[in-house]
Amino acid sequence: MIEGRWVRVTECDNIPPREGRAARIGDRELAIFNLGDRFLAVDNRCPHRGGPLCDGIVAGTAVVCPLHAWKVSLETGAVERPANTSACIRTYATRVEAGVVIVELQLRAVGELTTGALNRCTDT
Ligand code: FES
Repeated sequence: MIEGRWVRVTECDNIPPREGRAARIGDRELAIFNLGDRFLAVDNRCPHRGGPLCDGIVAGTAVVCPLHAWKVSLETGAVERPANTSACIRTYATRVEAGVVIVELQLRAVGELTTGALNRCTDT
């Protein structure tokens, strides 16, 4: 059975505006972005060759991968550039409570999750 679980990830202040940070939650690595008015979370793995999206450049509501400049929507996970690909990445619902970013994960089995420190991908 798959169920959603909201996981506290980090304080909002740990992610500067228009930047992303990687967050390891259990066996997953997410990229969480601060768009100024909201936070968006996606898998931290570019659908091209696995580049670290958390180190990409935020452009509107998309991120440009630092490796080969694919542009991926942070809202839908769809690749916007190049236009001729149907590749996409997983997105995660987020919310903020008391200054903390919280992400919803779909878990097959709810067990103990540990959240690691936020890092720029190149620091991990
Ligand atoms: S790995 Fe992201 S564009 Fe190539």
